[in-house]
Amino acid sequence: MKKITAFIFLCLISVSIFAKPTPPDEGMWLLQLLKDMNYADMKAKGLKLKPEQIYSINQSSLKDAIVSFGGFCTGEMISNEGLILTNHHCGLGQVQFHSSTEKDYVTNGFWAMNRSEELPNKGLFATFIIRVEDVTKQILEGVTATTTEDQRKKLVAQNIKKVGNKAIENTHYKFEIKPMFYGDEYYMFVTETFNDIRLVGAPHGAIGKFGGDTDNWMWPRHTGDFSLFRIYADKNGKPAEYSKDNVPFKPRHHLPISLKGVKKEDFTMVMGFPGRTQQYITSFAVKRIMDFSNPNKIKIRDNRLKIYDKYMRTSNKVRIQYVAKQASVANAWKKWIGEVRGLKRLKAVNKKEKLENDFEQWTKSKPDNLQYQTALNNIKQAYQDTEKLFLATDYLNEAVFGIEVIDFAYDLSEAETTEAKKNIATAFFKDYYAPIDEEVMAYCLETYYKDIPANLHPDFFAKIQAEYKGDFKKFAAYIFQNSALVSEEKTKKLIESGGDLKNDVAYNLLEEFMAKMAKDIRPTMQKSTSEIELNQRTYVKGLREMQKNKKFYPDANSTLRIAYGKVNDYQPYDGAQYQFQTYLDGIIEKENTKDIYEDYAIPDKLKALYLSKDYGQYGEKGRLPVCFTASNHTTGGNSGSPVINGEGELIGTNFDRNWEGTMSDIMYDPDRCRNIAVDVRYTLFVIDKVAGAGHLIKEMTIKK
Ligand code: ARG
Ligand code: GLU
Repeated sequence: MKKITAFIFLCLISVSIFAKPTPPDEGMWLLQLLKDMNYADMKAKGLKLKPEQIYSINQSSLKDAIVSFGGFCTGEMISNEGLILTNHHCGLGQVQFHSSTEKDYVTNGFWAMNRSEELPNKGLFATFIIRVEDVTKQILEGVTATTTEDQRKKLVAQNIKKVGNKAIENTHYKFEIKPMFYGDEYYMFVTETFNDIRLVGAPHGAIGKFGGDTDNWMWPRHTGDFSLFRIYADKNGKPAEYSKDNVPFKPRHHLPISLKGVKKEDFTMVMGFPGRTQQYITSFAVKRIMDFSNPNKIKIRDNRLKIYDKYMRTSNKVRIQYVAKQASVANAWKKWIGEVRGLKRLKAVNKKEKLENDFEQWTKSKPDNLQYQTALNNIKQAYQDTEKLFLATDYLNEAVFGIEVIDFAYDLSEAETTEAKKNIATAFFKDYYAPIDEEVMAYCLETYYKDIPANLHPDFFAKIQAEYKGDFKKFAAYIFQNSALVSEEKTKKLIESGGDLKNDVAYNLLEEFMAKMAKDIRPTMQKSTSEIELNQRTYVKGLREMQKNKKFYPDANSTLRIAYGKVNDYQPYDGAQYQFQTYLDGIIEKENTKDIYEDYAIPDKLKALYLSKDYGQYGEKGRLPVCFTASNHTTGGNSGSPVINGEGELIGTNFDRNWEGTMSDIMYDPDRCRNIAVDVRYTLFVIDKVAGAGHLIKEMTIKK
């Protein structure tokens, strides 16, 4: 996260649209606009609910069953006693926190057999959306045609404070006001946040992470990626900090659960908090992603992962230390690979160029609108101006901050108290293996040296040439021999003695990179980012005017959205057809205990239930369903989101997308983009039959 803030300008790029009308299942829609924009279409596809049953501010509706889980995932209420269902990978941090060698919940799972065994989680929160409002007019008050971009930013910030604070006056609510369409519109989300969220259950690791990184982003899939938490509130049902006296929260709505199963073409919708998409970026931006940004980031992570893997294979201790880091590095790495392939297959650049040509033609009918006429050229220019700087920024994020000790030095320099510094150090060294990082440093510095133009090199690169004859391995060895920050003992001594980080050789590397960035990268990048933002706003505004009959949805920005589509299979490549449903049989087929990451181990209990075919009410014609695919448009942040049928019942929990469809963050393809969900019947089977936590099933509303 902090890297993102350190190089914030990187995040703001973008915009473009398809020439053809929005494909039927594409889109992440704002709930309060549903009635006018999407309802007829949803109904035609099989929705049985009324718009007010999905979003209403006067009566309870589906939205009241949805929470932002910790700000990074989504969760849904599945009982009137505050039970939250989310993904295993969303709750894993908490599960890990409560684990020790004696109580290894990551491996063996955790189940609270009564309320008193549920475990509190400091810092974790769950946020409901109370209402959503279009506040564009109020937020843009005072902005005129001659307002500069800088002035506009200031005015908007002031207005946001004013409007938001007024909206929550005399309540315990909070607010968030977010720009849509690059700031052409603003929406206010009034929220209610609960802070006493307790861990209720997580399946055996071999169920929750079945398939591991090998199956990640892939279909056919067999992961039981779910976990359970519970919201506690004070006696009045209001948010409160953790207390023994708190009681389970009664939500305004909880999702009934359907055991009826799914058929091809069944209507489905996904509600949740998708993080970030870039549907409207130009051909210049797509080209940059496909030709430079993704390939470079992939290359750097490829090498880091190879180094991790080499050490993880030879030491069990190192394997355990690095498994979570490897998973997180591999997650985006694998997504980017799929994204480039998908964009190539879709000929995304051609499609964007065609749209841009249409736009240029159309602007000729607007001879007095200079802004429309110059928007695309201005964007193009800004991309050209920043090509090398952008490259350097990618390398700072991926290569420089990919060196753990540099990242650690940054964290230490940001921490204020000795206590905080010590806590950071303890957490860091628990999972740190210096020989890995030394190799990563040698590789990462060398790749920065080779790939980034000399005028963007930090000064110490000259020293590596002069004193180490360009041998980055030797240089890394020197750093690792002389920095205190690669040893827990030396780091803690340094912190306790109040020693200055500035005397540390590893910290000095960070300093030099930061100085270079501040002087030669950030100023231009900021200017260009602002320029792109302004012109993207104009361009998208123009597109919406040009394509009057097309329905536009704003890019994902971690606000509550609804996507809808249908249960569906797909053709991953010529000659193959995947089915939309997987079964427990597939887990048995995949079993492999020789794999060192134990991606395909199966807990004994699950195997026994398979052999006895004891599936109870969760089976379907003698088989147990595990996961399914549908065409809902989702992205990161939609993890844990409910997949809901036309009657408003829960049928699954979203946790991934297919590899062939990961380009949907930039361009959606109705033929290949699929979201992946755990079938709720598998979730309940694991809770009931594998974990023996049938008391939890009793508090749910089950529809047979
Ligand atoms: N790809 C999914 C997402 O983006 C799941 C990630 C967690 N699983 C893993 N094997 N790393 O979050
Ligand atoms: N696994 C992702 C998440 O954690 C969801 C998959 C996606 O990117 O669509 O949000």
